[in-house]
Amino acid sequence: MVKRGRLLIATSNPGKLREIRHVFADLDVELADLKEFGKLPQPLEDGLTFEENARKKALHYAGLTGLWTLADDSGLEVDALGGQPGVNSARFAGPAQDAAANNIKLIRCLGEVPPKRRSARFRCVIAIADGQRVSATAAGVFEGVIIDEPRGQNGFGYDPYFLLPELGQTVAELEPAHKNRISHRGQALQNIRPKLEALL
Ligand code: IMP
Repeated sequence: MVKRGRLLIATSNPGKLREIRHVFADLDVELADLKEFGKLPQPLEDGLTFEENARKKALHYAGLTGLWTLADDSGLEVDALGGQPGVNSARFAGPAQDAAANNIKLIRCLGEVPPKRRSARFRCVIAIADGQRVSATAAGVFEGVIIDEPRGQNGFGYDPYFLLPELGQTVAELEPAHKNRISHRGQALQNIRPKLEALL
């Protein structure tokens, strides 16, 4: 089927890419991948909020590629840690973006914090830009609690430690389609969908 345009999904995180491709599979737009462009300079993710970083990333990659570009900035806020790791979620344990090291640090930081004070949320902001400006943004929030022992094999990042109390499952125990229906990223993608369709 010939699609109506091309949209670059500007992420090098395979977990995010999989989820975005899944939610947008039925859109009348061809989804392009950063891999197509070889090694590009990375954007500076020095914003103080998810929205600032999502905007920076979308503008950066749209400028480099000339394509309409969708970027996601997301992360985990843990109340007992004053909202950390927040915008530093990918680099919590250092610049290597190593999920295992980030999870070890998260559980160590929470130490003896009791279960009833383990509330946390994932946040996601998505921005769509062309080379000149950001044309749309949308956000999603996903509430849960942090547990000490990992559970489940699906998802990525902090998912095995993020328990959804109403379901009695971690996000890594959910089927991918289930995560996409209820997650911060799934919500942000659904929220931006009509704005994207209007831009096409
Ligand atoms: P970003 O590339 O700066 O947006 O980094 C996002 C980071 O937040 C990821 O590397 C993960 O550590 C974490 N994160 C964001 N969304 C999720 C999710 O859906 N599951 C688990 N971890 C996530």
